[in-house]
Amino acid sequence: MPILPNSRSLTNIARHAVRGRNYKYPASKTASTSFRLNNFPNTISRSLACPASNMSLDPVYNLPNPGPLTEAQRGLIKATVPLLEQSGVDITRCFYKAMLGANPDLKNVFSHTKQVKGDQPEALARSVYAYAANIDDLTPVLPVVERLCHKHASLNILPQQYTIVGKHLLEAITEIVGKDVFKGDLYDAWFAAYWQLAHICINREAELYKAAAWVGWRDFVVRDKVHETDEITSFYLVPKDGGALPSYKPGQYISVQRFVDSLGFNQSRQYSLSDAPNADHIRISVRRENGGPNQEHPGCISNLLHDGLKQGDTVEVAFPFGDFFLDESTSPVVLISAGVGLTPLTSMLHSIIASPSPREVSWVQVVRSQDKHALNEEVRNLLKQHPTPVRKTIFYSEPGSALQGEHYDIEGRMDLSKVDDLTLRLGESAQYYVCGPEQFMADMGKALLAKGVEHSRIHAEVFGAADVPI
Ligand SMILES: Cc1cc2nc3c(=O)[nH]c(=O)nc-3n(C[C@H](O)[C@H](O)[C@H](O)COP(=O)(O)OP(=O)(O)OC[C@H]3O[C@@H](n4cnc5c(N)ncnc54)[C@H](O)[C@@H]3O)c2cc1C
Ligand code: HEM
Repeated sequence: MPILPNSRSLTNIARHAVRGRNYKYPASKTASTSFRLNNFPNTISRSLACPASNMSLDPVYNLPNPGPLTEAQRGLIKATVPLLEQSGVDITRCFYKAMLGANPDLKNVFSHTKQVKGDQPEALARSVYAYAANIDDLTPVLPVVERLCHKHASLNILPQQYTIVGKHLLEAITEIVGKDVFKGDLYDAWFAAYWQLAHICINREAELYKAAAWVGWRDFVVRDKVHETDEITSFYLVPKDGGALPSYKPGQYISVQRFVDSLGFNQSRQYSLSDAPNADHIRISVRRENGGPNQEHPGCISNLLHDGLKQGDTVEVAFPFGDFFLDESTSPVVLISAGVGLTPLTSMLHSIIASPSPREVSWVQVVRSQDKHALNEEVRNLLKQHPTPVRKTIFYSEPGSALQGEHYDIEGRMDLSKVDDLTLRLGESAQYYVCGPEQFMADMGKALLAKGVEHSRIHAEVFGAADVPI
């Protein structure tokens, strides 16, 4: 199941990739002190070996711009694919260790937990592998690039930081592959390939920043904190400066940044906006990550938000981004969620119900039990407001004393073969929005494809690192 960006973004990425066009970074949006940006060097590190002394520099950011890859260079990149398959994670582990060692400021930017668990090196290794394997035609990787550009924009990644990443990535390949092998034409080919990808990202991120009302972190105040269940709490946030709330598309997320005393640096995480865009507040609904049966690894930021963020407190928020959002057609929508994955879909449902002529919608959801069923009343009330009866199916995996037919419909894990075709709106050209744990989404994707739904109508949000298309 592909993670689908909208088609305009894809066209743009492809166009920039071909033309190497550059956008000016919106400097005016970075000037305000309240919208702080991380402070990184803005010149090219001289220790980054530039292969060709006469190589042109990008006129906008003063970054290396080796230009399009030659056929011979693409051949060399493809020849490295088996090596990446074998040693990709070793390379990216080595890369992160060296980069964060030499640039401790970046610990504020990357997830410490992902480093400890090894998730991030794996995500980067997969993306580098996918890029190399598709170097002749990047179409299959463009959805992943689109997604990671939104993630980068949400984390305020700047063009100059690509120099740091490029330097350490090439050095890590050199270290793992050996400097007697990774040299000459092969080194030059990877240098060119890295900068080709970097410029695709930089240009797309510049577009995203240009369309954003602010770049960097903006202070928001917690106006209300609502206990939804023992695991999930909603935070209603308003700008501290009293300015306008951001406009966003239902389904998009914000990044939230907090200083973590135990680490001594900042950490940020993404949270889908769980309410429809409105002029009163933005809302996130956060599940506390307890950290296993013995709570040996409690989640860093979710616990800080639950325990350390009170009504009236301030929190740093990035402008909303994300490539998972409700399309603007009038075709029916099927919203399929598991657990806290209901958050972006609740925002979509609010928007559908609030529209002048609501499109047809189905709500298909699995939660563990009634006491874990967050935003239950809110969703039920929304469904009642639709002018035509909304089709819904609720699974409880551990129903306990909950009443079948009243509180839930089906006992057990979500199984689309148990949901009737009318609710799934098969044959109605519906759009499907799926959000939940990774395995759940893979299962839903497979089930929908088996029922004849095309890839292009299935949209998925991963509450973790992006992978190559499922
Ligand atoms: C686009 C997007 C939207 C999202 N929307 C939402 C949302 O609406 N609501 C929501 O609640 N979440 C959402 N998330 C998830 C959220 O961003 C965080 O990932 C989540 O809150 C956990 O962050 P944390 O800092 O608490 O946990 P982290 O510290 O990042 O830990 C992550 C997980 O690893 C476990 N862990 C930590 N350390 C270790 C270790 N050493 N060994 C093994 N396991 C360990 C933790 O228990 C936890 O389960 C979204 C994510 C994305 C990418
Ligand atoms: C061409 C170069 C790059 C590639 C291929 C790349 C690739 C990726 C990928 C695949 C992800 C996972 C996306 C997801 O979670 O959905 C990611 C996330 C991320 N990237 Fe990049 N990236 C590049 C450049 C950069 C740069 C220059 C920075 C800034 C120093 C950066 C910082 C991050 C951060 C902070 C995350 C979020 C993960 C975390 O919190 O640890 N990346 N990147």
